[in-house]
Amino acid sequence: MDKFLIKGNGRLQGSITVSGAKNSALPIMAAALLTEGESVISNVPHLADIQAMVDLLGDLGAEVTHADGTFRVQVTDESSSFAQYERVRKMRASICVLGPLLAKRRSARVAMPGGCAIGSRPVDLHLRGLRALGAEIELEGGDIVARADKLKGAEIFLGGPFGSTVLGTANVMMAAALAEGTTVLESAACEPEIADLADYLNAMGAKVSGGGTPRLVIEGVESLCGTTHEVIPDRIEAGTFMIAAAVTNGEITLENARIDHLLAVVDKLRQIGASVEPSNGGATVSSARRLDPIDVTTQPYPGFPTDLQAQLMVLLCLADGNSAITEKIFPDRFMHVAELLRMGANIRKEGPTAIVTGAKRLIGAPVMASDLRASAALVLAGLIADGETTVSRVYHIDRGYEKIEVKLRQLGANIQRINES
Ligand code: EPZ
Repeated sequence: MDKFLIKGNGRLQGSITVSGAKNSALPIMAAALLTEGESVISNVPHLADIQAMVDLLGDLGAEVTHADGTFRVQVTDESSSFAQYERVRKMRASICVLGPLLAKRRSARVAMPGGCAIGSRPVDLHLRGLRALGAEIELEGGDIVARADKLKGAEIFLGGPFGSTVLGTANVMMAAALAEGTTVLESAACEPEIADLADYLNAMGAKVSGGGTPRLVIEGVESLCGTTHEVIPDRIEAGTFMIAAAVTNGEITLENARIDHLLAVVDKLRQIGASVEPSNGGATVSSARRLDPIDVTTQPYPGFPTDLQAQLMVLLCLADGNSAITEKIFPDRFMHVAELLRMGANIRKEGPTAIVTGAKRLIGAPVMASDLRASAALVLAGLIADGETTVSRVYHIDRGYEKIEVKLRQLGANIQRINES
């Protein structure tokens, strides 16, 4: 198991190139199961979760090759439609093979994902949507077993108690692409990753309109073909580096970033006192002043993303006053709070809200990563803390940030990866 050793040394300065979006690439790779043609998907980040998807696609009869971030996926054998627990346990996003398998092969067996460090994560909305298309779904031995001789378009409401569902929308949209007739998804997720998936499906010959809006209309087609597609830049990686600039009082230029996907984040950073200057194909974020406290609530897109909540909390740990962060997507996603307290942060939890009182400084300490975004937050905290911070269990961060320590060193950070084995 690797860990990071970080020596807090202030300002980060320079430029980095944002990688392709993990959360776009994963469902898009799963969608390649909808065709026997070759899919060529570029700008795919080199990450543990992507490798997990490659392994899963291999189990499902696809040959996957890659070079320089371009993945070629070709299904050669449709005989196994079983996503085993060992795979799904390691990566929850494995659930997004369910829709494509059901639509293309008429049956699928996918292990039911369990909860994870960010809380309980049900898939009832995925199943409700697929059932509405005509699938018969049962739970057998911890696996979702789904069958459908024929999927038929339907009107489906996909809203749940915490808003829509990103991967649920992806699953139902992929299945509906090959269903007979028209499907209307109301309260669909509007995340840019869903719009990217809709673009990819359309390039395969699907007829999806409304991608990126709460109402998706999908006219089913008989078959889909192979295509080429470039994955959008990762807005969460970009947002993490934007916060890194603000928290270190530095200046970071992001290249290959979609600032239009980050407007809620830009708004909050400006309220805090950072400067965000959009440029051609990216933005420059800087801060050279005290940070103002703010209140923020995580929301489905285009609201402030839950995937940047932990990182923003680190920034607010140094603001001049009290801030409130309310988590409306995953109300238990606060594992990082206890670790930040070990570094001298002043945070009080009240239900789904964390009250953060700005401290003068954070103090380096050994801390433990619990999930992907919490790990990124701890790395940010290490960058500004006095002394040394070790972040253990960085395999979490390797799931979603491509070469994070290389990119941070490029900006002047003192961060080393240490192999403990
Ligand atoms: C996606 O997860 C992302 N994962 C998550 O990113 C992200 O945090 C999340 O969307 C929210 O933006 C990928 O794209 C691979 P949801 P997903 O279904 O789709 C509830 C990261 O760090 N819900 O949109 O699984 C659910 O409990 C990861 O990169 C139901 O009630 O999340 C939550 O409260 C972590 N029933 C809310 O909806 C369901 O059937 C949103 O979850 C499904 C979800």
